[in-house]
Amino acid sequence: MKIALASDHAGFDLKAAIGPFLAGRGIDFTDFGSQAGEAVDYVDLGEAAAASVVAGGHDRAILVCGTGMGMSIVANKLPGIRATVCWNAYTAEMSRRHNDSNCLALGGRVLTLDEGLAIVRIWLDTPFEGGRHQRRLDKIRAVEERRCGGRNAAKI
Ligand code: RB5
Repeated sequence: MKIALASDHAGFDLKAAIGPFLAGRGIDFTDFGSQAGEAVDYVDLGEAAAASVVAGGHDRAILVCGTGMGMSIVANKLPGIRATVCWNAYTAEMSRRHNDSNCLALGGRVLTLDEGLAIVRIWLDTPFEGGRHQRRLDKIRAVEERRCGGRNAAKI
């Protein structure tokens, strides 16, 4: 699995902890920034990382801002992205089992580093259940095709 990792300044500390966590598990990742000490707009970094998932360069993205909400909003503008803000073990597990989340959005100002890493671990390890949940994802795909670019909608 290849992960696209990005944060703004508010998510930098948690992103800085997630990188070594992924490396320690042997997971390949690309750090799209931000860099230490720079104030940036989450929109730019979130779009870049999510676009790489849509393009197939990465399998999933982990995006961190102050609350996770801004990152999730921008990522979900890209057809094919299923970004989920997760704030505890239950939401992390359900985001994978039911939503097949391919983009984890975290709040660096909401979570401790330990809480954030615990969520990442669950999100990485939990499989999608498929079945009735696949039917619902197929309907989301149909919404994208109707509302967000027709045949150009991503096929991820
Ligand atoms: C930055 O101050 C903050 O607005 C941003 O990190 C994020 O929380 C937005 O959703």
